[in-house]
Amino acid sequence: THIITSPCIGTKDQACTEVCPVECIYDAGEMYLIHPDECIDCGACVPACPVSAIFPEEDVPAGEESFIPRNYEFFGT
Ligand code: SF4
Ligand code: F3S
Repeated sequence: THIITSPCIGTKDQACTEVCPVECIYDAGEMYLIHPDECIDCGACVPACPVSAIFPEEDVPAGEESFIPRNYEFFGT
């Protein structure tokens, strides 16, 4: 899956939601989160985000790892 990280908080640009082919990016309050079971890892959302908040799970930067379980737990997966 892909993971949305801290730069989304306070930004919520929503460009990612417009390019995702499977519409698996959901409003989670202070930020958007990606449903891990629905994401097909196409990568389209990565360059679309103006604050570079989205990464493949294996490439989440140091210090942003807490957003991995946050994406999973929000959807109960
Ligand atoms: Fe949607 Fe593709 Fe981004 Fe997954 S990687 S959230 S399928 S745009
Ligand atoms: Fe957030 Fe970037 Fe999408 S700011 S809503 S991850 S385009």
